[in-house]
Amino acid sequence: MSEFFNHVIEGLSKKDKKLNPKWFYDYEGSKIFEQITKLDEYYITRTEIDILKKNQDEISKCIGEHATIIEPGAGAGEKIKILIKSLKKPELYVPSDISKTYIRDIATKLEKALPNIKIEPWVFDFQSNEKIPSHIYQKKNLTTFFPGSTIGNFEPLDAINFLKKVKNQFYSDKIIIGVDLIKEKKILERAYNDALGVTSKFNKNILKRMNKELNADLNLDFFKHDAIFNKKKSRIEMRLISQKKQHINIGQTSFLFQDQEIIHTENSYKYSLDMFKNLAKDAGWSVAKIWVDKNKLFSVQFLIHQ
Ligand code: AVI
Repeated sequence: MSEFFNHVIEGLSKKDKKLNPKWFYDYEGSKIFEQITKLDEYYITRTEIDILKKNQDEISKCIGEHATIIEPGAGAGEKIKILIKSLKKPELYVPSDISKTYIRDIATKLEKALPNIKIEPWVFDFQSNEKIPSHIYQKKNLTTFFPGSTIGNFEPLDAINFLKKVKNQFYSDKIIIGVDLIKEKKILERAYNDALGVTSKFNKNILKRMNKELNADLNLDFFKHDAIFNKKKSRIEMRLISQKKQHINIGQTSFLFQDQEIIHTENSYKYSLDMFKNLAKDAGWSVAKIWVDKNKLFSVQFLIHQ
């Protein structure tokens, strides 16, 4: 059986049902996420882009010449364009993602926008132990670019392991990383409960995939999207809430949902600068520079080996 099937069965068998957010991102899910990044309520993307633009020169100095930039989970391309255009004599860009079609699409688009740098897509799953191909790690000045606050979707221990991976599997000695900051609950919850319902569509894409790929019979209208800020755990929790008592089938396996029963689908951790500094330290990195916007909504940080 597929990994997706096993994860779903395991997650829905738990007392507190949950699903792994990595399954949001098939081709369609990645496209819906691109729409989220353009929403008014979703301050993350535009704030980070502003920070990258305003501090281009300093960021470029931190990275240095002849850089190879590795971008795990590469996005729609706008941020990388800003970064690469600001660099002196960049050598290679390695966008990477779990979805082969999506990453190829991204690479093809970027080849036109960035004619002066070689682009080599790499299909990579965050959760694997794979090392970067050897002809890439032999290069000098390997920098990992990890914007978007994707680090926030990892549990803190997984975030530490990921930062260790950047050192041990990507052979990078520098990281430019986007880290979302703790702020007012109202702003945070609005960002994940947008008025147009795009985030709801994104959340429910996991159910849609179960129907398409795992022969499930879920009615998407019988689940409601919701996101709350859990202050104690410093994270946004995305959930799908069953709107009635119902049985659902996934192939031969059936599950009972009570009315209002929750499937926890994603966490998005928010950090203070101190919390993130300590997390990076636990992974062997030190924060050498931090850039924030004037409202202190978001941070871009430069990490180097301790
Ligand atoms: C990809 N990641 C940083 C997004 C976030 O903000 O946690 C995923 C997302 N989930 C709902 N909206 C956006």
